Amino acid sequence: MADPFDFERPKRFAVMGNPVAHSKSPAIHKQFAHQFKHNLEYTAIQVDVGGLSQAVGQFRAAGGSGLNLTVPFKIDAFRLADNLSDRARLAQAVNTLRFDADGTVFGDNTDGAGLVHDLLHNLGTQIKEKQILVLGAGGAVRGVLAPMLKHNPARLMIANRTVAKAKDLVREFAQHGKVEVCEFEELRGKHFDIVINGTAASLEGEVPPLPETIFTRGALAYDMMYGDKPTPFMEWAALRGGIGKTADGLGMLVEQAAESYFVWNGVRPQTRPVIAALRRGE
Ligand code: ATR
Repeated sequence: MADPFDFERPKRFAVMGNPVAHSKSPAIHKQFAHQFKHNLEYTAIQVDVGGLSQAVGQFRAAGGSGLNLTVPFKIDAFRLADNLSDRARLAQAVNTLRFDADGTVFGDNTDGAGLVHDLLHNLGTQIKEKQILVLGAGGAVRGVLAPMLKHNPARLMIANRTVAKAKDLVREFAQHGKVEVCEFEELRGKHFDIVINGTAASLEGEVPPLPETIFTRGALAYDMMYGDKPTPFMEWAALRGGIGKTADGLGMLVEQAAESYFVWNGVRPQTRPVIAALRRGE
């Protein structure tokens, strides 16, 4: 088979978002490409809200091979795809587009696989038979429910500030497994092995109103957000007795990127050295 990587011309990829300037995706994909000696270019493109279709068209016309989409374009991208993976259809959101040789656009969602990989392989945490609480009911949570359900947790519960939104989400996922809903106030007396913060509270420097006794002994507190320092949720969790581990979403970010790389290039990069390099600020 001919090497799809032409050494004269790089294969072109990009992440589109708004804002996107601080995206770590270009650095991640550059390191992945280095592992395989692939001739690949990956840039960050800021796109005006409402302008995704045009920007994607331009990128394709200029010879682009694939795109990642970040906030706020994952739902717009879902609508642009001709063909969808099952996981993208379930999430109703797309973070990965691939422009295929027959002129069609394939849409996938690698966020959930990224979270599951990070939990299982980087953090050594089982999902099977665990009591899992997910906070939030927005786009971030929508993408991870089905991939988590596949691993048969003992219980998967969602708590959200606006409970009606969580109920809608659960109704949609009903045929794929059991997801329960509750209000933050109803969490008193309940205990979980893994608590995943999928709300935007950390962005506002806030912590969802959880009871102090929410964690089982040795539990994992996971924030899908990440930053240069532990998130407010991680700091709050670390102060609760018996907590096993806290983690931010940097591992998930690198794992979803690796999954996108696989969708585009058919090979899965090593993620641990890339996570370590990002932690060192490289
Ligand atoms: P995303 O696509 O990143 O998930 P989103 O769809 O705007 O973003 O969803 C944000 C989520 O964070 C929602 O679940 C939101 O709760 P509501 O549905 O009640 O709005 C949640 N959220 C945002 N700020 C929060 C806060 N300070 N405390 C608790 N939950 C918060």
